[in-house]
Amino acid sequence: MNIILLGPPGAGKGTQARVLVDERDMIQLSTGDMLREARSSGTEMGKVVAEVMDKGGLVTDEIVIGLIREKLEGEKKGGFIFDGFPRTLAQADALADLLADMGEALDAVVELQVEEEALVARIVGRSTCGNCGEVYHDVTKPIPADGKCANCGGTEFKRRADDNEESLKTRLMEYYKKTSPLIGYYYAKDDLRRVDGLAEMSEVKRQIDEILSN
Ligand code: AP5
Repeated sequence: MNIILLGPPGAGKGTQARVLVDERDMIQLSTGDMLREARSSGTEMGKVVAEVMDKGGLVTDEIVIGLIREKLEGEKKGGFIFDGFPRTLAQADALADLLADMGEALDAVVELQVEEEALVARIVGRSTCGNCGEVYHDVTKPIPADGKCANCGGTEFKRRADDNEESLKTRLMEYYKKTSPLIGYYYAKDDLRRVDGLAEMSEVKRQIDEILSN
């Protein structure tokens, strides 16, 4: 099963992708994570990527499609979860071609719908475990009182450089301008399924499970 999790920054794509990885043995392909890895490599490409990401812009289609292509050549397991990819119509076309070359298809595009005010609160309160990447939130999913990650016991937690109101404004603008046209693109292909991303995490999960079991 291959699915896309589509939604604005802070919609809960990463949170739900991790659950699907655990429960369905799927592979999470997060272009955000891949780009953060590229930036920490210190290469020339990494420096360009870092500058774009910190401002909240989109990295070029060429770089992102290249990263995804490499990952698709690896193991498949229970299928792929595309998290934060595609983000432009060119990326969506490229993904369709890549999957077709592999004899694969998309099973669903799950749109997580969340209003803008909630996104700001989610983004500014987010932290992740530096060891396993488990996602926390100061209010809705606080780090356990013993200071240890509930998933791996790690004790270091990070906040992202682009998780501030200024970058978020640009990220949202990019989303509405370049990514939201994908809603129509996948609707026309009858692949689009909508989920109330404002609901509790467990309820969002239940709605996604229902979509995937149909
Ligand atoms: P990326 O890392 O993909 O970030 P994003 O799309 O902005 O999404 P986020 O990771 O911020 O949010 P999320 O939806 O995963 O939410 P999460 O589950 O963490 O991209 C970063 C940058 O990389 C981009 O700006 C761009 O520069 C570049 N980039 C990446 N992909 C690209 C591409 N394809 N093309 C070009 N450039 C690309 O949840 C957020 C918070 O809310 C957490 O604290 C969580 O605990 C909480 N939360 C989650 N669900 C709920 C819920 N139901 N109720 C209450 N709280 C919740």
